[in-house]
Amino acid sequence: MNTEQSEARKLKTFLEVGQTLAGTFQLTDAMSRVLMTLGRHHEMVYGVVMMLDQETKQLGIVASHGLDHDHARRVKYRAGEGITGRVLQTGKPIVVPQISLEPAFLDRLGVLKKALRRRELSFICVPILVNRNPVGVLCASLHYRAEREYEHELTFFSIIATMVAQAIKVNHLIEADKQRLLEENTHLKQELRERYDFSHIIGNSSPLREVYELVTQVARSNTTVLLRGESGTGKELIAHAIHYNSLRASKPFIKVSCAALPETLIESELFGYEKGAFTGAQGRKKGRFELADGGTLFLDEIGDLNISTQIKLLRVLQEREFERLGGTETIKVNVRLIAATNKDMEKAIAESQFREDLYYRLNVFAIFMPPLRERKSDILLLADHFLEKYAREHGKRIKRISTPAIDMLSSYHWPGNVRELENTIERAVLVCETNVIHGHHLPPTLQTAEGSGTVTTLKLETAVEAYERDMIQDALKTTRGNRKKAAKMLDTTERIIGYKVKKYGIDCDRFRP
Ligand SMILES: Nc1ncnc2c1ncn2[C@@H]1O[C@H](COP(=O)(O)OP(=O)(O)OP(=O)(O)O)[C@@H](O)[C@H]1O
Ligand SMILES: [Mg+2]
Repeated sequence: MNTEQSEARKLKTFLEVGQTLAGTFQLTDAMSRVLMTLGRHHEMVYGVVMMLDQETKQLGIVASHGLDHDHARRVKYRAGEGITGRVLQTGKPIVVPQISLEPAFLDRLGVLKKALRRRELSFICVPILVNRNPVGVLCASLHYRAEREYEHELTFFSIIATMVAQAIKVNHLIEADKQRLLEENTHLKQELRERYDFSHIIGNSSPLREVYELVTQVARSNTTVLLRGESGTGKELIAHAIHYNSLRASKPFIKVSCAALPETLIESELFGYEKGAFTGAQGRKKGRFELADGGTLFLDEIGDLNISTQIKLLRVLQEREFERLGGTETIKVNVRLIAATNKDMEKAIAESQFREDLYYRLNVFAIFMPPLRERKSDILLLADHFLEKYAREHGKRIKRISTPAIDMLSSYHWPGNVRELENTIERAVLVCETNVIHGHHLPPTLQTAEGSGTVTTLKLETAVEAYERDMIQDALKTTRGNRKKAAKMLDTTERIIGYKVKKYGIDCDRFRP
């Protein structure tokens, strides 16, 4: 072969090696193919790639050419041992033009000696360096030729080893990234599970304890659950709790808001579509049923589903299979269904707005969320919980809710239930500039006679008096009944405080420790 031909061969080898390494994430596969290329274009008789096992500190063969691979796999070298071991230790290449003359040549593989009987071999071993650290070696055996330019050979194999090293580096980065994402995902899932743990559902009233009881009973089964109750009572919270306390907890929880999606979109959202199913369907898209496979599908506001989707949903519930829009393939899924509604379903059925057969399919295990006004003892627990949450969120040092404000919260009828209470407390936290939530921090709906359930009309004088009394009581609470300090706090005199205490019949002893 003349020089020109040989140079062209080399370039072709580089190109092929580069393409092989760039074309896959299966590194060991790619390395085997790189060795094959070297065998084909470069008269390499035998070749191996060895990698350092970071734990055992041994060199093991990950890819080989011209050898019995299973045998080769068992061969191990330590750093410093033999020529390969030395290359790894020093990070410097070694060339042995005639291996029959080299005593350091261990030939654990045994094959080279066998081959030697036929023809003398040369041995080239170059380190694979990642960030200047040797992580492995590339070894090649060529037929010995006295006129061979071993310097050139060394350069050639060093370039190949550099290319392999680059691929290893990229692979490490991707692996590290994958590992990080995996850990992050596990962490997030754990966080979700904790968030929807029972301990985060606030309330101790007996109607709510009954709900906990039902959730515990049903969570670990695959039973379809129908959550009913007024708006803002915590249906979605309970749906999450069921999922995260079930055997499906590590699988997806997918929500479909039936009311939020326009009629034309709901089917494609639920069942997905094939490319070209309708104008604009540029690719295949999985529906929520498919996404929830193995996990839970939460159909929120089921009472708002249109009749045609109700029919399709009924079929899925009966047969547990469906087709994507514009598709023919039947898809089977394993999902647990939880539905929720604040509608009067019986009325909707009577008015033919909801199919009775679908209703029976959904209403297997019903859980009714009690309205807040029927569990007054939860109001305070929830108010305290939200106070802490929003004070922290908005960086405010609010300690408590004043007694009159508590009275207002307790006597209000809460048509918007827990959501309304949550919003009320968040607003109060925002407008409160001291460390106590007072009655006047609450919205006007809670202050009116209808709101508080009292029928007397509120006069300015009475309102001012209530406010004054409220402030004095609070000051006395803070100062543990010390009138002098309370007066100072309110920027008034001890004499006035004394007079007001008498007027409002405040019992100072109550605040003494
Ligand atoms: N027992 C509870 N403990 C703590 N937070 C609660 C509780 N019940 C409800 N909440 C909170 O109140 C808000 C409203 O609850 P959720 O969204 O579950 O109500 P919903 O019944 O689904 O209402 P809608 O019918 O309007 O969708 C949420 O922010 C939820 O976290
Ligand atoms: Mg909801």
